[in-house]
Amino acid sequence: MRSSLNHPPLLRRLTIAGGLAAALAFGTVSAAVGGVQAQGASGASGASSADVSADAPAAKNASLTGYDREIVDQFDSANSVSHIRHLAVDIGPRLNGTPQEREGAEYIGGLLKSYGFEVTYQQWGPVSTKQVAKVTSPNADLPGGPNWQMYASASGKFTGDAGVEGRVVYAGTGQSAADFPADTAGKIVLMDYNSTASIRNTAVANAADRGASAVILAYPTGNSAPPSFTLTTSQPGIPVIGGGSAHYTWIRGLLDKGPLTLRIATNQYANPMGTNVIGIRHAVGDPTGTTAPIVMVGAHIDSVLGAPGAHDDASGNGVSLEVARVLSQYPLDKELRIGGFGGEEGGLLGARAYVNTLTAAEKARFVGEWQMDMVGTPYEPARLWALTPNGKSNFVVQEAYDAAARAGFDGLRNCRLGQSDHQAFYDVGIPSSLFIWLDYRPPAPPAVCGPTGGTYVTEPEYHKPTDTMDNISPERLQITLDVVGGAVAHNALNAVTVSATSDADQPVAGAPVRADCGSGPRDLGTTGADGRLQAVLPHATCDFTTTVEGRTATERGVSIAGDRAVKMTVDFTKPTISLTTPADGAVFTLGTAATASYRCDDNLSGVATCTGTVPDGSPLDTSAVGFHEFTVKAADNAGNVADRKATYQVVYPWQAYFPETMDGKAGSAVPIKFGLGGDRGTDVIASGYPVSRPVTCDTGKATGPAEPTSGPGNSKLGYDDGQYNYVWKTDRGWGGSCRQFELKLDDGSSHLTTIRLK
Ligand code: BES
Ligand code: ZN
Repeated sequence: MRSSLNHPPLLRRLTIAGGLAAALAFGTVSAAVGGVQAQGASGASGASSADVSADAPAAKNASLTGYDREIVDQFDSANSVSHIRHLAVDIGPRLNGTPQEREGAEYIGGLLKSYGFEVTYQQWGPVSTKQVAKVTSPNADLPGGPNWQMYASASGKFTGDAGVEGRVVYAGTGQSAADFPADTAGKIVLMDYNSTASIRNTAVANAADRGASAVILAYPTGNSAPPSFTLTTSQPGIPVIGGGSAHYTWIRGLLDKGPLTLRIATNQYANPMGTNVIGIRHAVGDPTGTTAPIVMVGAHIDSVLGAPGAHDDASGNGVSLEVARVLSQYPLDKELRIGGFGGEEGGLLGARAYVNTLTAAEKARFVGEWQMDMVGTPYEPARLWALTPNGKSNFVVQEAYDAAARAGFDGLRNCRLGQSDHQAFYDVGIPSSLFIWLDYRPPAPPAVCGPTGGTYVTEPEYHKPTDTMDNISPERLQITLDVVGGAVAHNALNAVTVSATSDADQPVAGAPVRADCGSGPRDLGTTGADGRLQAVLPHATCDFTTTVEGRTATERGVSIAGDRAVKMTVDFTKPTISLTTPADGAVFTLGTAATASYRCDDNLSGVATCTGTVPDGSPLDTSAVGFHEFTVKAADNAGNVADRKATYQVVYPWQAYFPETMDGKAGSAVPIKFGLGGDRGTDVIASGYPVSRPVTCDTGKATGPAEPTSGPGNSKLGYDDGQYNYVWKTDRGWGGSCRQFELKLDDGSSHLTTIRLK
């Protein structure tokens, strides 16, 4: 946003005394606008314009996300300012039916074409004859151009575009010889305009008698637009033109500084045609424009005679064009229309001509029309208003309120007013609203906007030659871009409802949703309590993803071609693992072949990654005796994990060469012989073993603690010829009892025999 314009910095608050006094001194107070409809406006009634909060967004773009943010971030009021400057300064006043209205249309049309819009120029009319003087200077250094427009009297000469050029002299009221400088001949004579016809007539006749090359009658005081007038004695040899008070002040000021040369070209445009420019950008899927919803933005090109119309309404086009530029970068499923209407100041002529061309089917496709007329004056008491012909809120107004809320701007209000092109759309049933920075005063409660409307005070420059770049606020244009442009963009994109639901079909609140529509990821915001998020997206194929409590849900390749819903299911359920081999507690003989067998499943996607100690289908390790842990880990797409363990045992191929029960003699040695399928070395007995314990001879139940079979005479384990031999020395004292012998091996297996001792 540029702030190079020559106006004081905006004050955040209106001081009522100063603000209203200034407004009443210079502005126009309208009558209340009557009506019959009931109030439906969003909270405008009761708020006086002084109550309306500050201009600047409290927290700029506070809750903008996704494409809303991306688009609003690109709106730059500096671009709007440069369009306004071209329209108001380079082209200048654009009176309906004059070439300047057409030039304005072509400037807008050229830009729209460059943004890829299909552009048509509508001519309509004829309209009333226009008589205008274009007043310029060959001295390019003069402040303000100048590129003034004055009224060209039909009592004077119409020079055509060539015009006359000459030095300017000032001749007061021009009523007596003393008023005229000696060198008046050949000069352009500036005199005070007088509302009395005879005084005017005398002044012009006196100037003509002295050989003036042209006459300017301009208001010497006040704040007046150029007057239109005739003379009782026509002066067909010289142009006779009427200037506003500002023209008078500017010329006198320049004359005070030194010689001034002006060029005056007077033209009469007899029953000319007015011009509209309409830019259409078709929806992706509807290149012929037959079905797609239409989002339209409008502004008026024309200005009143004498006014450069920087604010009224080059500003509206400046905003429209910036909205068009930014939106033209996105493939859209809505049809975008930008209207530049001529003849608004003549009674909404261009807009009415335009809506008359719409077929019923076309009208039915309209989402709405956002009309921008006077969208950023620095005039302090002005606030941003959404004004509708019936004073009620409608879709267009509501969308602007929503965009304002997203942008953190709470200064938008709604009330009742026609008086601009939105009325033409309203009259044919298309939702529309006028967006305007205006010191509008809604009716005092209990009256409401609906039936009565309010009053307003315009800025002093309204409809005056002083409606120049000084009457433009880049800051307020930026607010208009963010609010109105933000609403238009929001509607031009597809409305997509993204819902996040758990796999148990419950809404998931607070889920941050991201979308990648082919040009990088964007945060779309966070789901609300209902698990939903309203997003806007261009025509695209998008991947959606959200991560909640470490669980990621992804929807890939979602085709966004129109408004639609996208459902994301967040999987909170762990994958399941079924482990067949090894089963928990399974026993395998050393070196035998066994195959791992397991699988993992997910409730949502079906698949889960599954990793075991050895891969599924691979041989299980049975190469070492003892207990082995086998684990399987599973992870689903969402990031849920599960694991499962099984313990299996690998044992020697056991061969017992002793009976389960035997008889013996206490104090003798008992050989315990066994085989382990080969020589496994002599370190095969679990530590602390063998043991023996006293048992009941009948039942075999232990009657005392196990004791190690250690002590003198107990031999070590021997191996010979494929057999292990352990010599167990029994105790003499055990005579007449039974004893159980337990041999536990390092493979975890235990082997028992019971002996009855004599
Ligand atoms: N930009 C104004 C609209 C407007 C409305 C200005 C309210 C100030 C306050 C528009 O260009 C305009 O001047 N409209 C005319 C009415 C139109 C039907 C000729 C007007 O308000 O006088
Ligand atoms: Zn106007």
